[in-house]
Amino acid sequence: MIGGKEMLDLIIRRQSDRKYSDRQVEADKLERIIEAGRMAPSACNSQPWKFVVVNDSRLVDQIAEASTEKITGMNSFLRQAPILIVIVRENPNFSSKVGSAIKNKDYSHIDIGIAAENICLQAAAEGIGSCIIGWFDEKQIRKILGIPFSKRIEIIISLGYSLSDHRDKKRKPKDLTVSYNRY
Ligand SMILES: Cc1cc2nc3c(=O)[nH]c(=O)nc-3n(C[C@H](O)[C@H](O)[C@H](O)COP(=O)(O)O)c2cc1C
Repeated sequence: MIGGKEMLDLIIRRQSDRKYSDRQVEADKLERIIEAGRMAPSACNSQPWKFVVVNDSRLVDQIAEASTEKITGMNSFLRQAPILIVIVRENPNFSSKVGSAIKNKDYSHIDIGIAAENICLQAAAEGIGSCIIGWFDEKQIRKILGIPFSKRIEIIISLGYSLSDHRDKKRKPKDLTVSYNRY
């Protein structure tokens, strides 16, 4: 069993890595990283996701191109990533859909966020760098990967051996983001 301190260390060690070496991610590591996503909790155990694992470098290049902001170059680093995991939102199951309607809250977005973090934490535990990407040309990527028009692509996660140094976390002060017993 992983200790509490080790768990927090892992959470802090995970960072958005935007520079990768050529080294391939080993198949067993990748399998565990995907499994961490698949094992994520979801409202009514709906699992409203499909993880499209992209390891073909030509497709990685095309997705990188479709995710790069042309003026700033944001996300151009994706072309160095040996693996991309594209998370497609699938229809939630009946109970989750009913719950979402009654509570006016789309649980499937929350579910996908949790699965994404599970993937990144498992990657960190495996010594693999990751970055969650929310800015991309969804239409283009649907075309590249044959994803039906009716589906939304919520997130892309890049994976690879990182060449970035560890950074200290920049977070809002605790007294702004945490309170006890009252808002
Ligand atoms: C939903 C979401 C979307 C994000 N989109 C991008 C993105 O398109 N490009 C990028 O470089 N980083 C992206 N990030 C990474 C954030 O910038 C990063 O998590 C944040 O600055 C905190 O830094 P850290 O992950 O290193 O702790 C995204 C993160 C999340 C959770």
